[in-house]
Amino acid sequence: MSTLAWSDDLALGIEQMDQTHQEFVALRAAVEAATDEQLLQRWKDLIDHTQIHFDNEDKWMRDTNFAASNCHTTHHKAVLDVMREGLNYGLKGHFVVVRKMNAELATWFPQHADTMDAALSDYLKRIGYDTVTGHIAHPQTMPEQQIHGCSGSTDTDLTAGEQPAACGH
Ligand SMILES: [Fe+2]
Ligand SMILES: [Fe+2]
Repeated sequence: MSTLAWSDDLALGIEQMDQTHQEFVALRAAVEAATDEQLLQRWKDLIDHTQIHFDNEDKWMRDTNFAASNCHTTHHKAVLDVMREGLNYGLKGHFVVVRKMNAELATWFPQHADTMDAALSDYLKRIGYDTVTGHIAHPQTMPEQQIHGCSGSTDTDLTAGEQPAACGH
């Protein structure tokens, strides 16, 4: 059995985000179940899907007044860089690196969903952002200043101590 399974506890209430997250969980499990022959293709599939997953969330943030260098987007880039580094190891025959990284994603994903993605989904719901059309129903509830942190605020609507943890890996 996979070390990470989808459950409704992981749902955040933004349909497109939840759909993508379910796909991520399934693709990560497929890597876990892969034979050595299947491993690199499945890892590439997970990287390709994760690129689209993160690109979508990054776009939603740009659409809703996050600075391009905000904490959540920066974290996405770091995770993808590490996954691609894992692929390079795998291409040299170091499959154990890919398998270990994939196992770490089973821990990373629920933490990311519970912190950065949950904060983003709460913010998007609050301002009435439609991920399909890009329409914002309640623009008056958006902060005037650009958002640099991991959440829907210009400064600290994450409690002290929560933000460094969310940004620190
Ligand atoms: Fe996500
Ligand atoms: Fe995210």
